[in-house]
Amino acid sequence: MKRIVLFSLIVIIGSISLNSCRQSSKNKEMVKKENFGVFKGKDVFLFTLTNKNGNVVKLTSFGARITWIEVPDRSGRKENITFGYDTFEGMINGDPYFGSVVGRYANRIAKGKFTLDGTEYTLPVNDGDNTLHGGPEGWHSVVWDAEIPENADVPTVRFTYQSPDMEAGFPGNMNVEATYTWTDNNEIVIDYKCVTDKKTVLNITNHAYFNLHGAGNRDILDHEVTINADRFVPVDSGLIPTGELRPVAGTPFDFTSPRNVGERINEDYDQLVIGGGYDHTFVLDSDREYDARVFDPVSGRVLEVLSDQPGVQFYSGNFLDSSQKGHGGKPYIHRSGLCLETGHYPDSPNHPDFPSTTLNPGETFTSQTVYRFSVE
Ligand code: GLA
Repeated sequence: MKRIVLFSLIVIIGSISLNSCRQSSKNKEMVKKENFGVFKGKDVFLFTLTNKNGNVVKLTSFGARITWIEVPDRSGRKENITFGYDTFEGMINGDPYFGSVVGRYANRIAKGKFTLDGTEYTLPVNDGDNTLHGGPEGWHSVVWDAEIPENADVPTVRFTYQSPDMEAGFPGNMNVEATYTWTDNNEIVIDYKCVTDKKTVLNITNHAYFNLHGAGNRDILDHEVTINADRFVPVDSGLIPTGELRPVAGTPFDFTSPRNVGERINEDYDQLVIGGGYDHTFVLDSDREYDARVFDPVSGRVLEVLSDQPGVQFYSGNFLDSSQKGHGGKPYIHRSGLCLETGHYPDSPNHPDFPSTTLNPGETFTSQTVYRFSVE
């Protein structure tokens, strides 16, 4: 009897460890890691994640960037639909934000100044008088540590970075984590986690550009966009919020039902003129199935964006001017990519009535953004 019990125990333990071994090696099989380059003496890696459908996402530890998303159109033809570069050289000499994690403060802080508990902090400015996307040395331009978690059962890569106190002018040592999961439902799930040891501000996002025709092929003006927002955040000529939250009803900013990007983009409407197109945060409704949806009638590809953040910056690629040449040397022409950057409103540290971007020691900031791809 004793022997039988012992034997069954060995079998059970054996099969458990075999299973966990299979699982641990599974993520390693689904995620290929290669050297991509070296930056300031630190190795940069490229990760290729392949899900059950054979669809591929590529990430790099430089800026914790997404650099390739290959998904099928309605006839099954696969193509990369995000902006990026084939080589590390191309990446460091190219546009700093394609696919990057942006921090510590995505979008703008007016005049590079904010005050916490009576202390004024000054950041380097890099966009006229203002600080954009964490300044010139933001999280998009550093090498993150990377790990392929053993227990994941779909392709997953976790990037971590220790941002020192006063880095790029921001107070507090901050530990940041961005974990990317590429699910078998063709969703990129990004989980962010941040902690600080001093009171500070934080607005983290991902700055991927999308063109559902295939990146580098043509503009995105025919993409049909829906944004679940009744209000948006008007800006001044420096793209700094004026403080107003304006209803979208009756304006070219009404995307509560699907509208082509190009349909109203050239209208003589104050905010379109100021932004050179759409470059605005939309105030997300609290009860929403998704934040935004993009449909390309030609390929049938659909992108849905889901998050737990109070806003999404809809940027219609107004600063693209063909000088940025990405994968395959293809020029990214004016308005050939759009961004849906989930997060807080720009310049919130200087707008006490906006949702707070303050992070205190002892608190853990967590947030999730999902980019879900399908066809229709
Ligand atoms: C964001 C900003 C834009 C622009 C791009 C990067 O979307 O709101 O104004 O700076 O990033 O070029």
